[in-house]
Amino acid sequence: MDQQRPMFGSRAGFIFAAVGSAIGLGNIWRFPAVAYENGGGAFFLPYLFALLTAGIPLLILEFTIGHKYRGSSPLSFARLNKNAEWLGWWQVAISFVIATYYSVIIAWALSYTVFSFKLSWGNDPTNFLLTDYLQVADAGAFGGLVPQILVALAVVWIVTLGVLVAGVKRGIERATKIMIPLLVFLFLIVVIRALTLEGAMNGLNAFFKPEWSQLTNGKVWIAAYGQIFFSLSIGFAIMITYSSYLPKKSDITNNAFITGFSNSAFELLAGFGVFSALGFMAMQQGVGVDEVVKSGVILAFAVFPQIINEFPFANELFGVLFFGSLVLAGFTSLISIVETFVAGVQEKFNVSRTKSVLIGGGVASLVSLLYATRGGLNFLDTVDYFINNFGVAFAGLVEVILIAWVFKQLDPLKSHADAVSDIRLGAWWKICLSIVTPIVLGYMMFDNIRQNIA
Ligand code: PHE
Repeated sequence: MDQQRPMFGSRAGFIFAAVGSAIGLGNIWRFPAVAYENGGGAFFLPYLFALLTAGIPLLILEFTIGHKYRGSSPLSFARLNKNAEWLGWWQVAISFVIATYYSVIIAWALSYTVFSFKLSWGNDPTNFLLTDYLQVADAGAFGGLVPQILVALAVVWIVTLGVLVAGVKRGIERATKIMIPLLVFLFLIVVIRALTLEGAMNGLNAFFKPEWSQLTNGKVWIAAYGQIFFSLSIGFAIMITYSSYLPKKSDITNNAFITGFSNSAFELLAGFGVFSALGFMAMQQGVGVDEVVKSGVILAFAVFPQIINEFPFANELFGVLFFGSLVLAGFTSLISIVETFVAGVQEKFNVSRTKSVLIGGGVASLVSLLYATRGGLNFLDTVDYFINNFGVAFAGLVEVILIAWVFKQLDPLKSHADAVSDIRLGAWWKICLSIVTPIVLGYMMFDNIRQNIA
């Protein structure tokens, strides 16, 4: 079976795919707001701590598991220990849930790319978003499907499933090799333009202003770990699946460092771009930056159109570049999320790749229709909140505890990684995964839950 396992054609191909999975909506629309709400400049401390002690070590761990056991996440975990298969399925299930709403946000971004050509959102983008585009119903009501979202959503799913049917090398690798360089190019233009806007510095000052007192708040630490895990796509079976398509001779440790640092660099870039633009808007309106910062959906789809309206020139072009970047970043991530459960189903039930893409992707696309209804936004907010506040960090914590302490696999995995990598892993890797991450993350989660109850 292993001889027929699909493979990435080159090292660059794998890195583009992994970086493509990591760089996503989370980097552009999630990171800047999360950082701002959790201590601004002070957030970088827990963020860097989580990146270095949990993010990159876990990335190395997941790359090694996939490379060593050569299977999708459930199969790899089953090979690691016969009692561990469920962990793989659990991660696959979280990925499935993420795919169902992530696809819808990409669909919105696709619509907005088209709207940008004519600034179709008019003078009141918030009203346009909620009333005309999403047609949001009263809280609690589902109220039927919204046709214009459906069209965009259909395009998103057709492209994604088309790429996956084409396979690892001809589909995933080829698509990400085109999309990621294009994304970086377009987004750099967005950021440079934003940085040169009047008021940009005020935005950046607001973004980087440190609130040190936040550092003792457990919630801030959970937010940092959550951001790192979500942003690096770890804890969701994704990086295990991708690395199972690596050729036998592949430098795991280096690949993990490249992926981790590229992702954070892009995230920081997005922070610069978004806050420069917010500073510009605050100045135009004569208000403080904190009055214009919103999170998530409203930030991207109501505040940004507003900013684009106020642009000195070439408004349409800026809109196309911004929303086009969201679409590209989203696609390369969605492809990886869907591949995860497609691969799981394919190996478990021994069906062809095409069949499992059609079954897995088909079911996910049907479920995603829930968010294309008039009540979809409320539903999406709830699921997203739940996944981010409870699912993401918890999935990573369970993974490290089981592998380090229950199945005691860190030593054999370290030998495997060392045998194929240029740099040997030092003792730090084991200490981070078996001690630092479980203690810090475990304590913070416990503290957070305690505060929520009290
Ligand atoms: N990492 C991607 C992002 O930052 C998306 C993603 C999240 C992919 C979770 C897989 C799992 O948006």
